[in-house]
Amino acid sequence: MLSILAQGLLAASVVAVNNGLARTPQMGWNNWNSLGCDVSEALLLDTSRKLVDFGLRDVGYNYVLLDDCWQDGRGDDGYIRVDEQKFPHGLKWVAGQLHDQGLLYGMYSSSGEFTCARYEGSLDHEEEDAKSFASWDVDYLKYDNCYHRGRFGYPEVSFNRYNVMAKALKATKRDILFSLCTWGEDYVHTWGMSIANSWRVSGDIYDHFNRPDALCSCTDAKDPFCVAPGTHCSVMNIINRVAPYVDKGAPGGWNDLDMLEVGIGGMSDAEYVAHFSMWAAIKSPLLIGADLRTLSPEALSILNNPAVIAVSQDPLGKSAALVSRNLTVPKDQYGEGETQIWSGPLYPNDQLVIFLNAANEDLEIITSLDEIFVRHGPGGSAPHTKEKWDLYDLWAKRMDTSVAKKVINSPPGTLNGVKGWYNSTETPYKAGLEAGDERLLGTKVGVAAPGEIKVKVPRHSLKMYRMRSQKGPIKGYTITRDEL
Ligand SMILES: *[C@@H]1O[C@H](CO)[C@@H](O)[C@H](O)[C@H]1NC(C)=O
Ligand SMILES: *[C@@H]1O[C@H](CO)[C@@H](O)[C@H](O)[C@H]1NC(C)=O
Repeated sequence: MLSILAQGLLAASVVAVNNGLARTPQMGWNNWNSLGCDVSEALLLDTSRKLVDFGLRDVGYNYVLLDDCWQDGRGDDGYIRVDEQKFPHGLKWVAGQLHDQGLLYGMYSSSGEFTCARYEGSLDHEEEDAKSFASWDVDYLKYDNCYHRGRFGYPEVSFNRYNVMAKALKATKRDILFSLCTWGEDYVHTWGMSIANSWRVSGDIYDHFNRPDALCSCTDAKDPFCVAPGTHCSVMNIINRVAPYVDKGAPGGWNDLDMLEVGIGGMSDAEYVAHFSMWAAIKSPLLIGADLRTLSPEALSILNNPAVIAVSQDPLGKSAALVSRNLTVPKDQYGEGETQIWSGPLYPNDQLVIFLNAANEDLEIITSLDEIFVRHGPGGSAPHTKEKWDLYDLWAKRMDTSVAKKVINSPPGTLNGVKGWYNSTETPYKAGLEAGDERLLGTKVGVAAPGEIKVKVPRHSLKMYRMRSQKGPIKGYTITRDEL
């Protein structure tokens, strides 16, 4: 029996834009976080070969995204021009090279007169630019929000401005994933899914775990009128900002927590593990931001963990949600510190639970099945709370650094180091989960039973478990796709 609350939650389903794309959160690489404007044809081609050679394409990273700074003004004919120094063969040629490797090609513009780096923008030239993108065989458009000539401040104003490009893309008849870079402005989480496949929920991420910065003025989503989302938002800032509306993500349209910082160098290994895990659990797009030409083995072994990617690409497409938050913990020099517990359903009948320690000390985090399953029924009323659950650690089978080193150093064009690694091109995640592939399941490390559940978590890290009922699916309570 469903509780009334659970029925209400399940009925409140989200209808996403119906272009058939992003049925699971998109994955790929984008140059901005590590390279900014330093873009070129060679960069995209070198990166595409690394994606293939490192086995990253074959755990799901299939979009190669060119960010800002490719433009060279606009011609008298109204069409945007490409910088021929940076892209001597043109962008259609680049797209062809990527497609030949089984990859997809994406690029960037702004819904403004200029882009954020002050190149030519697409505002009031949407139709010409959409035609150009389609003629270059583009598969993905990241669409920014700079220099919009004041056309924002009320949801419908932003909606209408972005909808012009959505319609222009649709009119090209090419399948182009549409990704809004709207920084959470004008309640984009309430309208983004009607016209786009993902929408940014915050100011730009920067390479810090929880350091507050004056340039990121919006601290949480309780301030919907925050007008300066900013450019220096930490991992914890973004997580807390999206927490109240994680449920807006659904197959076809996702909350975008911004591109990954993993491997760029500002955070510890454990902080990067936490960053990556939370992005996967909240169903954000997973876009590698590091320069793959200089990727460390440690970063590779975070990015290529199939047990965690299987959470991101889970067929149910349900974000984990924050079920408890403890602010009464040791703080750091910025006055920051908290612990959080996140939980959510996983295909086929599993449950994800995350113990996140963002406090300034190693801590024991305590919870119970009542808390983990609070959204299945409050106050311990869900049948799930009476069962025993095996806990599978999703980081236990992380690739050894020595193996990752071998992968990175293998001669170009060989796939030596990754033999036996999970291959989602061969076996999509859904099929792997249905077959009970142990590489996706993680390693059984314990049991969660009624009563207190205590987990030790080091400072600035997390524990992430797939829970599986020892008795099998809970009777009378099956989450099906229709109910979502
Ligand atoms: C993954 O499988 C595909 C399809 O069989 C194959 O072409 C590719 O080389 C495999 N990738 C790796 C890294 O082994
Ligand atoms: C919050 O964490 C502190 C430090 O671990 C602990 O003493 C306290 O009991 C926790 N509070 C709750 C409500 O769990």
